[in-house]
Amino acid sequence: MTSTYPAYLIFIGPPGAGKGTQAAMLEKELGLKQVSSGDLFRENLKNQTELGLLAKSYIDRGELVPDGVTISMVQDRMQRPDCARGAILDGFPRTLEQASALDGMLAGQGSRIALVPVLTVDDDALIARLTGRRVCRNCGATYHVVFNPPRVESVCDACGGELYQRSDDSLETVRNRLYVYYKQTSPLIGYYYAKDLTTFIDGSQAIEVVRQALLDAIQTVLHGK
Ligand code: AP5
Ligand code: MG
Ligand code: ZN
Repeated sequence: MTSTYPAYLIFIGPPGAGKGTQAAMLEKELGLKQVSSGDLFRENLKNQTELGLLAKSYIDRGELVPDGVTISMVQDRMQRPDCARGAILDGFPRTLEQASALDGMLAGQGSRIALVPVLTVDDDALIARLTGRRVCRNCGATYHVVFNPPRVESVCDACGGELYQRSDDSLETVRNRLYVYYKQTSPLIGYYYAKDLTTFIDGSQAIEVVRQALLDAIQTVLHGK
């Protein structure tokens, strides 16, 4: 019998769909590390690396960072020991070229993608979510001023860190990120649908309801229950 692990999940959805919120909540429960390409770029930027500075010029315009550097950054991260059991990929792949590089990498190690949950949310709701999002400068936890507020304004519940607004969460950049998503990333839904890997989840429901729907779909694939 082939083993379920390593298990790779790919969370697809437009900016603001809840990929990061859900991946962070599910990583402990599933024992699968969240690997967010956006978070990796922001970490590089915080550390003022060459990659971080390059990425910033794209992120601030809401454009995708070039495939070459993105693919090698995520592949390096996936080789670390905390991904030995698999990972929840959040924000990667985002182009057909990235998807095909991931296929090549997984084939090389004899593993495959277990499931591709697609989170669907209307554009109007996405814009409200992104423009009200706040993120902890210290631990990266995500909040929303209305939908998921911290107990104390501007202070992280988890670590007491300061909350800030991402530079790409301005209305103008959000609009371009949505455009880029529909043009460059949404074709991946067809790519994975054709491989019978997608499951569609209504991401406009409450955070806890989405969490349960994701968990049920993932557990069914991983453990047949
Ligand atoms: P990235 O950081 O991946 O941003 P994104 O895809 O635009 O997605 P977001 O993080 O904005 O949304 P999310 O789905 O994680 O939503 P969240 O859970 O935070 O990428 C940033 C940039 O990096 C890109 O634009 C690009 O430049 C570059 N990049 C990254 N990966 C790349 C790649 N592979 N290739 C090339 N370039 C790449 O939720 C959003 C808000 O809504 C929060 O405030 C949250 O509290 C709230 N919320 C969540 N769920 C709910 C709910 N159910 N109800 C109400 N509110 C909710
Ligand atoms: Mg995110
Ligand atoms: Zn924090």
